[in-house]
This record gives sequence, C-alpha cells and structure tokens, in this order.
Amino acid sequence: MTSIAVCPGSFDPVTLGHLDIISRGASVFDKVIVAVLHNRNKQPMFTVEERVSLLCEATKDLENVEVDSFNGLLIDYVKEKKANAIIRGLRAVSDFEYEMQAASINKKLGPEIETFFMMTNNHYSYLSSSIVKEVAKYNADVSDIVPNVVAEALKKKFK
Ligand code: PNS
Repeated sequence: MTSIAVCPGSFDPVTLGHLDIISRGASVFDKVIVAVLHNRNKQPMFTVEERVSLLCEATKDLENVEVDSFNGLLIDYVKEKKANAIIRGLRAVSDFEYEMQAASINKKLGPEIETFFMMTNNHYSYLSSSIVKEVAKYNADVSDIVPNVVAEALKKKFK
C-alpha cells in the first residue's frame, strides 16, 4: 500500500520549521501533500496562491512532495486524496492541547486516518509564521529562519 500523508496548515508564510517537518515527513511516507487552508476567519498576509507558490519553490527539491490548497474540513480533503495519514509538527507544550483536540475530532470523523506528530527541530522550536511576520515588518533579517524565496517575498511586502 502506498503511504500518503497530508501536511496541512496556514503556511502564512512557510518557515524553516515547517520545511523541517515536511522534509522529515517525506523521508518516511511515499508521498506528502502539503495542503494550504483557505481560512476565511484569519486575515492572511499572503494569498493562498502566493502561499502555494512559495511552498512549491521551497519544496522543489523534494521529489515526493506536492503542494495543494483545500477548503472545508481537513478530514474530507484527506479522504478525497486517498491519503492515510496527517502530519503535524509540535513545538512546545502550548501546541499540545489544540493538536490533541484536532487529532481527536479528526479520528472521530475518519477513524481510518492516523495523525502523526513530529517534534520540531530544536533550532526552530520558537518559530512561527506570526513571529516571522512581526520581525520582518521591522526589517529584521529573517534569512536563516525562512526559505530564501520567502525572505524575498517578505521584503517586497514591507517595501
Ligand atoms: O497552520 P495552522 O493554522 O496551525 O493549521 C491549522 C489547520 C489548517 C490544520 C486546521 O485549522 C484545520 O485542519 N482546518 C480545517 C478545518 C477542520 O478540519 N477543522 C477540524 C479539525 S481542527
């Protein structure tokens, strides 16, 4: 059986912490689909199209990684893609409560789908898209915490 995992998120924008989880996932699963949520509740900095494009560029060397976007429930998307797993990164204890709730409801809605958690690399455990946007706004150098293509895109946004 081919193992296909969906790695969902807002990715506004993708950071090196995300990329670490995606690449480690890609070394375990046959295929990883990175899925960007069309989230109408949040006011994103980058459009879905921009986020997908940044992810495509950042993952271009990972042969078994695809980038896509989705609307609605994650579990419905996972089933539609005939995937068998969801991958999420865990940074700190504070991530745990939300992730446990999400994994539990996803298990209820799709008992055949497993959620796998990976501890984020210690180098990136403090990192989030929000922190990146916050410091990039004040022209801080973010070149060692986001892919180059994202650093360039942030520069353009704040020019
Ligand atoms: O990067 P994020 O914002 O932490 O990702 C959250 C995401 C996209 C995984 C989560 O919000 C999600 O799965 N949304 C889709 C709606 C859904 O399925 N909700 C039930 C499970 S929380």
